[in-house]
Amino acid sequence: MERGDRKTDRYAVVGHPVRHSRSPMIHQLFARQTGQNISYETIDASAAEFEVAVRGFGAAGGKGLNITLPHKERAFELATDCSAPASRACAVNTLTFKTGGVIRGDNTDGSGFLRDITVNQGQDVGGKRVLIFGAGGATRGILAPLLDAQPASIVLANRTVERAAALIGQFASPDELSSCALADLPELGPFDIVVNATSAGVRGENLPFPESCLASTSFCYDLAYGLGGTPFVTWARDHGAGAAVQGWGMLVEQAAESFQIWRGVRPETQPILAKMNL
Ligand code: ATR
Repeated sequence: MERGDRKTDRYAVVGHPVRHSRSPMIHQLFARQTGQNISYETIDASAAEFEVAVRGFGAAGGKGLNITLPHKERAFELATDCSAPASRACAVNTLTFKTGGVIRGDNTDGSGFLRDITVNQGQDVGGKRVLIFGAGGATRGILAPLLDAQPASIVLANRTVERAAALIGQFASPDELSSCALADLPELGPFDIVVNATSAGVRGENLPFPESCLASTSFCYDLAYGLGGTPFVTWARDHGAGAAVQGWGMLVEQAAESFQIWRGVRPETQPILAKMNL
């Protein structure tokens, strides 16, 4: 599509399901704010359809893709060249089609998370005791940037403790990183920052987390988000946490970083967050 003599560059998000993704709206707002001429679509592709969808988009002249669940690991394998954050997470949420058939993989989830916590939420991670519930792909994505922020310690607590132990083993196990079972948490007392990276509670079941993790000074962050709030945020507030927020800011910040990778300009995120009226 041509508008005047400026070509419209095509972008999209690939996921399954993806219909309710907020990424098209966010990227269109970024484009308007920065004067960039882009289009942004959603592509629903199952695991079996993923590779054809990605290669087809690139072959048709598409410039870049965001990758969401459940394809981030597969996108990492498909990329011909990856950034350090993508390699550390073994997952990619941003693909860029370059000349010569190069497909560059980046991961902006971790830096988006850290930026939301530190800049938007004003939390200082340095020297803090951090607890993360969960040991799946979401945890893997945020672990390296969190470690870089030099907390006093990070505990990964997971329903399946072996999975948490295996994950920290892949991070060369620095002293400040440890794993435990949810049942062991009461021995560890309250934490400064508590992050939910599990899918617990989304099916309406009670959260299996001990309230001993929380104090009135605890800052709680849910990587998940939803219009009616999330079970974790409700749980944290009900059990006396000082503050509890959903992951809307992470969503917008990781998108801003993808936009910067593609367009070379970083949009301002505050007006977008305000417009989302959360
Ligand atoms: P993602 O890639 O989004 O992290 P995942 O790899 O399926 O998704 O991981 C989901 C996480 O939520 C896991 O840590 C999982 O715990 P297990 O490793 O024990 O499966 C956790 N989880 C999901 N449902 C849960 C529940 N009802 N109670 C506690 N933890 C739960």
